[in-house]
Amino acid sequence: MSTSARVRIAAWAISLFLAITLSTCAAGGGQSAMAAPAQQDVPANLAPHLAPEQPLPYSHKAHLALGLTCAGCHTNPAPGKLMTYPATATCMSCHHEIGKKKPTIKKLAAYARSGQPVPWVQVYQVLPGVNWTHRKHLDAGIKCESCHGQVPEMETMSEATSVTTMGVCLHCHTLHNAPTVCATCHLWP
Ligand code: HEC
Ligand code: HEC
Ligand code: HEC
Ligand code: HEC
Ligand code: HEC
Repeated sequence: MSTSARVRIAAWAISLFLAITLSTCAAGGGQSAMAAPAQQDVPANLAPHLAPEQPLPYSHKAHLALGLTCAGCHTNPAPGKLMTYPATATCMSCHHEIGKKKPTIKKLAAYARSGQPVPWVQVYQVLPGVNWTHRKHLDAGIKCESCHGQVPEMETMSEATSVTTMGVCLHCHTLHNAPTVCATCHLWP
């Protein structure tokens, strides 16, 4: 295939993907189309945390530079606890063509054929048993970047902020007049 044909296919795949995500956003009320850097409310972790080894070298920086939105890949299905990882088909809408000769994209295509989700390693995790939900926070108008930092600049995803610690939960709840009684986040009284 000639280079110009490849560029045309890439441009086509990207515009198709954007058309789909933008219409999904419009229909679903769109969580956060992040163009300008958003404010970070939660302190960054002082000691840098290493990114865990992931099955594929996915880069938020490279993909968000294409104009993709968070909501195009991260949905918040009922009951709203999780933001979830994208379906492999979402990746393949571009990577059927883009980079298909590269080993990493061949591995991605193999996951797609297997029907198994890509086994992404979760980076942020609250202590099991702590009551957590994304939904209430998104409904309160809090942006992804407030808690997860400047994701559009991240080549690899590491635990950049201290959002999973109790002090940080409590600090922000106090600032926003959100509940701080123990039972908000713990089953025990
Ligand atoms: C109020 C802070 C806060 C906000 C706002 C927030 N997150 Fe999270 N996020 C967390 C915490 C805490 C965890 C760990 C939760 C757990 O252990 O299940 C997490 C986990 C995740 C995960 C991995 C587990 C899962 O839910 O599937 C993804 C993906 C994620 N966040 C994406 C996002 C995106 C995208 C946005 C914006 C739409 C966002 N988050 C907004 C605090 C936040
Ligand atoms: C809107 C189209 C689009 C979508 C959707 C998309 N990508 Fe990409 N991806 C690209 C483009 C463009 C590049 C850069 C290609 C290049 O210059 O090598 C790229 C590069 C990559 C690379 C680096 C390839 C290499 O070895 O150099 C990986 C890995 C990758 N994408 C994985 C994913 C995964 C996983 C998903 C789904 C979560 C995804 N992509 C979704 C367009 C897309
Ligand atoms: C093209 C798809 C795609 C887009 C667009 C995207 N993400 Fe992701 N995101 C992923 C994939 C794949 C992972 C898992 C791999 C990793 O951690 O890098 C992930 C992981 C994350 C995590 C780590 C969750 C955890 O704890 O494991 C956060 C936080 C996150 N994304 C936030 C965002 C935010 C904020 C945006 C918008 C600014 C965004 N993402 C846009 C595909 C995407
Ligand atoms: C950036 C600010 C911020 C951070 C960080 C934050 N929260 Fe919240 N939280 C809020 C706001 C605002 C609400 C909405 C309160 C409302 O709807 O009245 C909320 C609501 C909640 C609720 C629902 C309370 C209810 O009964 O409606 C739970 C549970 C919760 N947060 C748990 C947590 C946990 C656990 C953490 C830390 C892992 C955390 N939050 C971190 C701001 C934050
Ligand atoms: C806004 C959410 C929130 C509220 C309110 C909250 N906690 Fe926590 N708590 C957490 C989170 C998140 C962790 C896990 C911290 C970590 O992993 O570093 C935690 C952990 C703990 C732990 C240690 C781990 C365990 O479960 O044994 C204790 C003890 C604790 N909390 C006590 C309290 C008490 C007492 C109150 C009421 C005064 C309270 N918490 C209110 C979010 C909260």
